[in-house]
Amino acid sequence: MKRKDILGLYDLEAEEIAEILSVGLNMKKLLRQNIKKLPHLAGKSVTTLFYENSTRTRCSFELAAKYMGAHVVAVEADRSSVQKGETLVDTGKTLDAMKCDVIVIRHPAGGAPKLLSKTVSAHVVNAGDGMNEHPSQALLDMLTMQENFGRIAGLKVAILGDVSHSRVAKSNLYGLSKLGAEVRMYAPRTLLPSGIGRMGAKICSSREEAVDGADVVMGLRIQLERQHAGNFPSLGEYAAYYGVNEGLMRYAKAGALVMHPGPVNRGVELTSALIDGDTSRIEAQVLSGIAVRMAMLFLLTKEEIA
Ligand code: CP
Repeated sequence: MKRKDILGLYDLEAEEIAEILSVGLNMKKLLRQNIKKLPHLAGKSVTTLFYENSTRTRCSFELAAKYMGAHVVAVEADRSSVQKGETLVDTGKTLDAMKCDVIVIRHPAGGAPKLLSKTVSAHVVNAGDGMNEHPSQALLDMLTMQENFGRIAGLKVAILGDVSHSRVAKSNLYGLSKLGAEVRMYAPRTLLPSGIGRMGAKICSSREEAVDGADVVMGLRIQLERQHAGNFPSLGEYAAYYGVNEGLMRYAKAGALVMHPGPVNRGVELTSALIDGDTSRIEAQVLSGIAVRMAMLFLLTKEEIA
């Protein structure tokens, strides 16, 4: 990989995405064998800089870096000098002065990782920026699909829920479309951004139409922290009209995968039976998360090791 930063899948070429998935699949095989001591990032330092809460993304970036031998430091914005008024750019310059090789950033403002990338010499990896992109989440979703089906091209992927606020939906749309999958979306009109159809999504007029013949059905988290207005009447009505349940899954292909980026609101986006059922890949997605983040960190820094 020739680029300095990974800011989103909108920017990545199909070949770059395929390379990350290929290396990620190898990393996942090693993780399955419980191999957690690799030399790929020996002598490198990775800093996670999170201005928003996270369990999966932060832990898996930190474990990915540690499994490959990097020094890892976590900066929690709510316990750092950000609380004393330090700007993002000054925080970045400070980390740069400490010779951090990679900064993994999550920020509530779309575009914050791009701003940081312009002001630091460290590699910058976007771990989720506002409602813009969450590239490592989409890559781990794609890795999970690739592992199950042996391909991405030709898959029919139904994404249901809060598309407007979802950086996961947008990154998946860009990545899956570039590798030849069909991405269908269904959401309350109030949670469907205008223009998403022009970005390549097939907008469906019912849940059943979205799921019909699908290989993968992905529920999106209702982002209560980003809802500013009454976009739907209640969680109960959301579950009844936009949630994924066993009856809806009968429209999908037999054995279609159930996926969710997490954290999941049980009984709202997906029923508990589906979350815990045989076709659920929610836990497999989590292991894919470490593998794909190992691949991202390795491919970004490997030219310097060689
Ligand atoms: N899917 C995801 O980004 O989860 P976290 O917020 O726990 O990192």
